[in-house]
Amino acid sequence: MLDFKEEIAQALQKATGLEKEELKSYIEIPKDASMGDYAFPCFKLAKTLKKAPPVIATEIKEKLQVNEEMITKVEMVSGYLNFYVNNTTFIEEVLKEYDEKKEQYGNSNIGEGKNIVIDYSAPNIAKPFHIGHLRSTVIGGALYNVYQFLNYNVTGINHLGDYGTQFGKLIEGYKLWGKEYHIEENPIDELTKIYVRINELCKEDESVLENCRNNFKKLEEGDSYCVEIWTKFRELSLKEFQRVYDMLGSKFDSWNGEAFYSDKMKEVVDTLEKTGKLVESEGARVIELENMAPCMIEKTNGSTTYATRDLAAILYRARNYHFDKALYVTSYEQVLHFKQVFEVAKLLGLDKKYTNGLEHVPFGMVRLKTGKMSTREGNIVKLEDLLKEAIARALKVIEEKNPDLEDKEEVAKKVGLGAVIFNDLSNSRIKDEVFDWDTMLNFQGETGPYVQYIYVRTKSVLEKAGYVPEYKEINTNILADDASCAVIKTIANFADTLKQVVEKNEPSILARYLIELSQAFSSFYNHNKIIGEEKEVQNARLYLTYVVGNILKVGANLLGIQMPDRM
Ligand code: ARG
Repeated sequence: MLDFKEEIAQALQKATGLEKEELKSYIEIPKDASMGDYAFPCFKLAKTLKKAPPVIATEIKEKLQVNEEMITKVEMVSGYLNFYVNNTTFIEEVLKEYDEKKEQYGNSNIGEGKNIVIDYSAPNIAKPFHIGHLRSTVIGGALYNVYQFLNYNVTGINHLGDYGTQFGKLIEGYKLWGKEYHIEENPIDELTKIYVRINELCKEDESVLENCRNNFKKLEEGDSYCVEIWTKFRELSLKEFQRVYDMLGSKFDSWNGEAFYSDKMKEVVDTLEKTGKLVESEGARVIELENMAPCMIEKTNGSTTYATRDLAAILYRARNYHFDKALYVTSYEQVLHFKQVFEVAKLLGLDKKYTNGLEHVPFGMVRLKTGKMSTREGNIVKLEDLLKEAIARALKVIEEKNPDLEDKEEVAKKVGLGAVIFNDLSNSRIKDEVFDWDTMLNFQGETGPYVQYIYVRTKSVLEKAGYVPEYKEINTNILADDASCAVIKTIANFADTLKQVVEKNEPSILARYLIELSQAFSSFYNHNKIIGEEKEVQNARLYLTYVVGNILKVGANLLGIQMPDRM
């Protein structure tokens, strides 16, 4: 396969004497095709070469020697060098590579030998699985898939919130009134009620609070009754969460939650003690940090904290997964928490490889178009209901558009869930997300259903033709028109897109890409008749249709979205 970017990087290296990989990393793909197929921003070299970008551009251009079979033109535009590829060669190379790799097109071996740990989803036992956990589940899941596709060795961890003093309270409430509640039928709602009620009682009666504290202590010490009840709460909650995971297709390699670290925190405290940096502060024990609030390791009552458990988890993950990167996908509300934990982790005596590999992947809040989506103020949006509503709404749209469709329910599931997932991923993750049914279910918008709709169109074209031509039979010259070329150039960016996703831990780059590819195909489809043309023309266009459909499907699946065959 001819590598155009590599060719440009080599030519730039010869012209400048600078390091090729660095030069290559600066090469961009212009948004606007009139700016060429690749662009080199000369301002990137301004510091090194101590010259103004236009001067650099002129000097490079004078010395530049490119393989003319690959690059037909180089232009200077305001400090940029724009490269135009030879379309005939380009088209042939891209489609040939597709034919060789098929479903594996776009993958690469950049991940070989590298271990990635992704900590995502992580809802809290006996509490509702809320919309923030949905974002974590969807973003973490998409990252998981893309890393894996690029041949990283990935471990997905659901660091469940299954530990903490609230369980002492829940156990007490259950002891007192367990029989009054239908925990088996509706675990999370019922446990929430118990939790609210026991909290009230604790406020009135100090001795009840004391009992709750004791329960938690007993739980930590392994008291069989407390452990039994806790296990029951955990299992019932997980069963309820599992329904959401099944709908979304979420999978985890490990379910080690916070409780898993209960016997592993002593080592953290001991190690920190030895550094001499663990100090008393108002009865608690903390590590003082520069430029941020201290990190609490032990509370006044001697119990450990969320941070201590995260520190124990870092030790465990370093030793068991030997991670090159450990990602934590949570809302930006936890930015400080992870800053503190990552700083304190440097005191645990781990190899630098590990402390350097820790990375928080924060995301924005979800807002309803009409206001905030809150769990605190009581208007809890239950995730399972929300997903069911998405499916019901998708079904309604389908019934209007295509009442005779077979398997309407199955299709509605894919479309409804696809809409929610795509909506979660389509903007850069740090932005707050607006949750609006009409926007996300709009088949014409920049949405999941739009991508699915274009995919279904590729399917129906191929079905109508009744065959998929072989690559060997294709005359690539037929695909030299602007609309076809635009599709092929977008196809060629797939591998680069996936690399960017893992570089920035940003699935939205792939979501945007799928929109771009869908739009390029749509314009190709509007400009070019596919079926009924001369056989040679039909074959070339059918082949392109086939490739686009496959990439849309692979890409959507990586995001966690299923494709319907019809809709
Ligand atoms: N359970 C936590 C929450 O709901 C998220 C846990 C994130 N992972 C971690 N290792 N701290 O906020």
